[in-house]
Amino acid sequence: MFDFKPDSALDTPERYRQLCDAADALTGGEPDAVANMANVAALLWEFVPDLNWAGFYRMGESASGADELVLGPFVGRPACIRIPVGRGVCGAAAADGTTQLVEDVHAFPGHIACDAASRSELVVPVLRDGQVIAVIDLDSPNPARFTEEDAKGVENLAALLSSRI
Ligand code: SME
Repeated sequence: MFDFKPDSALDTPERYRQLCDAADALTGGEPDAVANMANVAALLWEFVPDLNWAGFYRMGESASGADELVLGPFVGRPACIRIPVGRGVCGAAAADGTTQLVEDVHAFPGHIACDAASRSELVVPVLRDGQVIAVIDLDSPNPARFTEEDAKGVENLAALLSSRI
């Protein structure tokens, strides 16, 4: 049995350090990308407080061959399956290859509301050889839930996963 419950008194950087250690232990040596994303989505849900959605979109292709994000493993309510690159918060992270920290999703042009409860969002691209291969998406029902410390923590996680998903 895996028991990776975080201590509730942890500060944010230490919380993400422990999350990354747990992700390293669970994904190291496991070649199956879906299994690894599924376990990391579960870890994000356990370690990061005040979320209503945590998971992955992978870079895929639309029927016409355009780059498109495709829903991957997650914890939360059922979500939009395909997101064109450039659309919404996830699409912006995929288009630019940069972290998107959005304090108020209602103020973000083109935000895609998969769950009406979401108020703030953090999306971090996972890069391999300079290409976006996936994004990690965290949603919260709390306005301005995410800080630069959250962004840094999830960016470290994304770097760890670069060759494992
Ligand atoms: N809100 C996201 C879509 C994905 S869901 O939140 C799970 C966006 O605007 O990209």
